[in-house]
Amino acid sequence: MKKRLGVLVSGRGTNLQALINAGKKKDYPAEVVVVISDNPNAYAITRAQKANIPVYVIQREDYKTKKEYEEKIKEVLMSYKVDLVVLAGYMRIVGKTLLSAFPMKIINIHPSLLPSFPGLNAQKQAWEHGVKFSGCTVHFVDEGVDTGPIIGQKVVPVYDHDTPESLAEKILKKEHKLLVEVVKKLFTENYRLEGRRVIFLKDKEDERR
Ligand code: GRF
Repeated sequence: MKKRLGVLVSGRGTNLQALINAGKKKDYPAEVVVVISDNPNAYAITRAQKANIPVYVIQREDYKTKKEYEEKIKEVLMSYKVDLVVLAGYMRIVGKTLLSAFPMKIINIHPSLLPSFPGLNAQKQAWEHGVKFSGCTVHFVDEGVDTGPIIGQKVVPVYDHDTPESLAEKILKKEHKLLVEVVKKLFTENYRLEGRRVIFLKDKEDERR
């Protein structure tokens, strides 16, 4: 039985698409079973519909408090019995309600090598800073903004001729690979948290060989 992914989105949904595509493969350990968007105009909604995946639009402005809004999201995720929640371009900060309902079971993809350049427009921040390498990070979500324990990263070089747009494009391609790889790793390898370091036990065995 495949593990069940709930994906939260706000926008175009290319990372969602990468997970949908991976989930269709026989040997991939997980599949997207539900998509939740806080934005009724997100193209990610169309992607979910095309793949026949149930999609719910849950808008913050329809609820008085963040707690009530997240209770609704929690209810939907629980009803689909998700094993992991993936934030794939979800533009809101996750609050206590969701964090405590899914402890260490919410991951986020961010387009920089954290802890550098958290927050919005990370690719442009990195480009403006003049870094020679950037990339993407998948991390567990905690109460901060892009601060949780890092699970995986991929690096891309930044060349003089790069623009914020070309850099974002290169990073996005790596994001799709990284997200699919990390989700697989979480379901096929043992891991534990040491301080804020995510240690994969298989990696440790490899080191000893
Ligand atoms: C990605 O760059 C992701 O890292 C960031 O938001 C963007 C979402 O892109 N959190 P998409 O909606 O998956 O195409």
